[in-house]
Order: sequence, then C-alpha cells, then structure tokens
Amino acid sequence: MRAVLLVSPGRLEVADIPAPQAASGEVIVTLKAAALNHRDLWIKQGKYAGVNYPLTPGSDGAGIVTEVGRGVDSSWLGREVVINPSFEWGPSKAAQSDRFSILGSPRSGTLAEQVVVPVLQLAPKPAKLTFLESAALPLAGLTAWRAVFTRARLTAGERILITGIGGGVALYALSFAAAAGADPWVTSSSDSKIARATKLGASGGFNYTLAGWGENAAMAVPSRFDVIVDGAGGAGLLALLDLCAPGARIVNYGATRGNPPELPLRKLFWRQISLLGTTMGSPGEFEDMLRFVSEHRIKPVLSEEFPLEQIEKAFGLMERGDQYGKIVISIP
Ligand SMILES: NC(=O)c1ccc[n+]([C@@H]2O[C@H](COP(=O)([O-])OP(=O)(O)OC[C@H]3O[C@@H](n4cnc5c(N)ncnc54)[C@H](OP(=O)(O)O)[C@@H]3O)[C@@H](O)[C@H]2O)c1
Repeated sequence: MRAVLLVSPGRLEVADIPAPQAASGEVIVTLKAAALNHRDLWIKQGKYAGVNYPLTPGSDGAGIVTEVGRGVDSSWLGREVVINPSFEWGPSKAAQSDRFSILGSPRSGTLAEQVVVPVLQLAPKPAKLTFLESAALPLAGLTAWRAVFTRARLTAGERILITGIGGGVALYALSFAAAAGADPWVTSSSDSKIARATKLGASGGFNYTLAGWGENAAMAVPSRFDVIVDGAGGAGLLALLDLCAPGARIVNYGATRGNPPELPLRKLFWRQISLLGTTMGSPGEFEDMLRFVSEHRIKPVLSEEFPLEQIEKAFGLMERGDQYGKIVISIP
C-alpha cells in the first residue's frame, strides 16, 4: 500500500510498504481521508519523544472497514467509520492511564491507504459529514470537547476567550462554545481569521501580534472572561491572566510557544483563577463529542485538502501557520 514514511527527523517519503494485518480484536480500515494535527508536525521535526523510525504518522482518519481480525463481529465489514486516536485512556475520568497512547506514534498512523486499529477505537462516521470532514474531527474535536466542557465546565451565557483561532483545536472550541450558548471571543495573528471567526459565532477578536492587544481586549470586554482556552502558552499566557474575570478558569492544552517566562502567582490566587491542564479525552467523551457535533450540525472547518502524495505541501502549510482550520488529506 502507499503510505507516508518519516524516515528520519524532517525527512518524509511516500512509499510502497506492506499492508497491515489485523490481529485478534483489530480491524483494517481502508482510509478515505486523514487530517494533520500539530502533533504530526512536532513528530516530523523530531521534537516529539519516543519516535521509532521509519514511522507512518497521522492520528486522524475516516474510511471503511475492509477486514476484521479474530473475535471481531463480521458485521463491521463495509461500515463507514471514524477512528478515535486516544488509545487506552483507562478507567479514570480525571486523567488518562499510564498505558495511554495516541495513534500515529508509536503505532503506525493514518497517513496511509490502510491502518490497523482495535475495533474499540471505531465509531460510525457522522452521517451528515463527508469523509474529509469526518477525518478532521477526532483529535482536535476531542481535545476541544474535554477542554471546554469537562475541564472548564463552560455554561450558557459565560464569556470565553479562545486563543489562536486559526488552529484546529481552537476552531472546534469556538464552534462548541457558540453551540452551547456561550459568548465566544478569539485571538489570532490575522485580522482576516478573526473576521472569519465572527461568522462561526465569535463576538469579536484581538490580534495578538499587536502591542497592547491585551489592554484593548480588557477595554472591549470590561467584565473580562470566565473561561480562556489556550494552546499556545509562552509569554502570551501571562497576558491572559490579566483578562480573567474573578474566579475564571484557564484551560491549557498545548505549548506551541513554549513555557511562560514566569508565573505571577499573586494574580492567580488573588483573582481565584484556576489554571487547568487537559489532553484529548476518554471514549465516553469521544462519543459525547460526536453526538454534540451531529445534534448541533457542526461542520468542521477545512483549511485545505492535499492528496497523500503531496504530504510535504500539507506540512509546509502547517509549518507556516497559514491554515484556518484543519488541513485534510484525501486518500484515493
Ligand atoms: N494536549 C493535547 O492533547 C493536544 C491536542 C491537540 C493539540 N495540542 C497542542 O496544541 C497546540 C495547537 O494544536 P493544533 O493542532 O490546534 O495546531 P494548529 O492547527 O497547527 O494551530 C496552531 C495555531 O496556534 C496559533 N498560535 C501560534 N502562536 C500563537 C500565539 N503566540 N498566541 C496564540 N496563538 C498562537 C496560531 O493561530 P492563528 O493562526 O490564529 O494566529 C496557529 O494557527 C499544539 O502545540 C499541539 O501540540 C495538544
């Protein structure tokens, strides 16, 4: 089969490799579509721990079950599915188990014509979504779901600020918050991305590349934000503390910009701010997210589509940060 192979840090190839075999409890999904996450870029750049080369990356995929292993009901054959990339979450709702892993490293991922996964990781493809839209959902949708609802416990009417709205997770957080009746605001490096976000339900936004953007945000929204969802970290996290309403919850799911230089604890404790970490989610949260997407007719925002053979171009777009939404990969 054709598959993307990361042969060493920075070096991707599209090659012919042997098709995978389904062991007991596993299925082969013949993929119609995949999607990129920032994790794939960290892996490509050699910045992710524990990568064994050569590796087929990719956490997100949707396709058709074409083979079942021993012990798997044959009624799965021919079903259109989407894959939950969050493996072995474990029994706790508070956090993942020690065995937790993510599809696409160390396991071979979805940037290939076929992938082998445990049947437990499958869910029906949302009926109203195309394969490309469905493939855009799993990792980012699940991360946004847990951040917004499980960790931040966002409720209708609350004001939420979502940073870096061009990002995959950020756009789902916006769609979910708007559908839940909250008042979403966004930040971005691009005024045009902010303008597009208002069409998805954002009340407004702030360009974080401009000096004094935080002061402008505080003036525009004097009561400040009940919830802030951030995947960038870095020095920008400190500006977010000043935008917290008393008792606010900041949920962080990533560190694209690294660690903040220092954390002014006085602001944190005096304003009763909760700083919460989060990562992907449980099988139950994956189901809840898919149900919510269907009930609210949420359409994943697709930035651009590339065929598998043009995977370098797809990574290039993410590397430049030019995307607005998910970069999807069509698999013929
Ligand atoms: N914990 C988890 O389970 C989990 C899950 C998913 C992602 N993540 C992490 O979360 C981060 C985002 O992932 P993604 O897949 O959504 O990435 P992505 O689609 O590549 O989006 C990255 C976005 O980050 C924004 N950004 C960059 N610098 C920023 C800054 N200084 N302040 C605010 N926003 C900034 C940009 O937004 P604009 O284009 O609008 O400027 C960019 O579009 C990555 O670090 C990723 O590893 C973690």
